[in-house]
Amino acid sequence: MLIGKAVRLRRVEREDLPRFTVWLNDPEVREGLEMIYPVSLANEQAWFEEMLRSEPAAQQFSIDALSGGGGAVLHIGIIGFHRVDWKNSHAEIGVFIGDKAFWGRGFGTDAVRTLTRWGLNELNLHRVWLKVYEDNKRAIRSYEKAGFRHEGRLREDAFHRGRYCDTLVMGVLRSEFEA
Ligand SMILES: CC(C)(COP(=O)(O)OP(=O)(O)OC[C@H]1O[C@@H](n2cnc3c(N)ncnc32)[C@H](O)[C@@H]1OP(=O)(O)O)[C@@H](O)C(=O)NCCC(=O)NCCS
Repeated sequence: MLIGKAVRLRRVEREDLPRFTVWLNDPEVREGLEMIYPVSLANEQAWFEEMLRSEPAAQQFSIDALSGGGGAVLHIGIIGFHRVDWKNSHAEIGVFIGDKAFWGRGFGTDAVRTLTRWGLNELNLHRVWLKVYEDNKRAIRSYEKAGFRHEGRLREDAFHRGRYCDTLVMGVLRSEFEA
């Protein structure tokens, strides 16, 4: 388990899958994600089995919000590394908070910071990066707060909301994160 200030990151359990199915069918949640098709619980179960066979560094974490007292926690989303490149020592983050009541309250920033810290300080990654649609202002601000810098722009990279939009690449080096 990875402990942050506002969240803890724990391995995904089978019991989490019904919540993922609901969240991933919510148009507002999907808007920022690279998802094409609606998902069923069976799709999520198949995804889960495949995920368990991936390398440990690429297995995903459920995000639990810490209540700030009393020890109560609430599952609000998912985060993890995709495409861990060991030769070049970098990995891409994917994240979403599915419970919209928890948007804009700092949980996403803390989850990204917590996973990034683990990647840089424990997995010995050199750089952690991610991709985000240019119109996802909340996500961009959250990643900036987590210490990510703007690295590049993939022009008209994604067909999204009926038009092509740019995808931004953001990342943080270990030297910057420690600073
Ligand atoms: C993106 C996401 C993970 C961010 O997590 P979060 O907990 O909502 O974000 P935080 O509260 O930590 O930070 C959001 C920041 O953006 C700001 N913000 C919110 N809406 C904004 C807008 N329209 N324009 C600019 N800034 C905005 C907030 O005020 C906050 O900044 P502040 O603390 O300086 O005030 C979460 O919103 C989410 O899962 N969204 C849906 C799925 C998604 O888009 N995933 C990311 C794919 S790349």
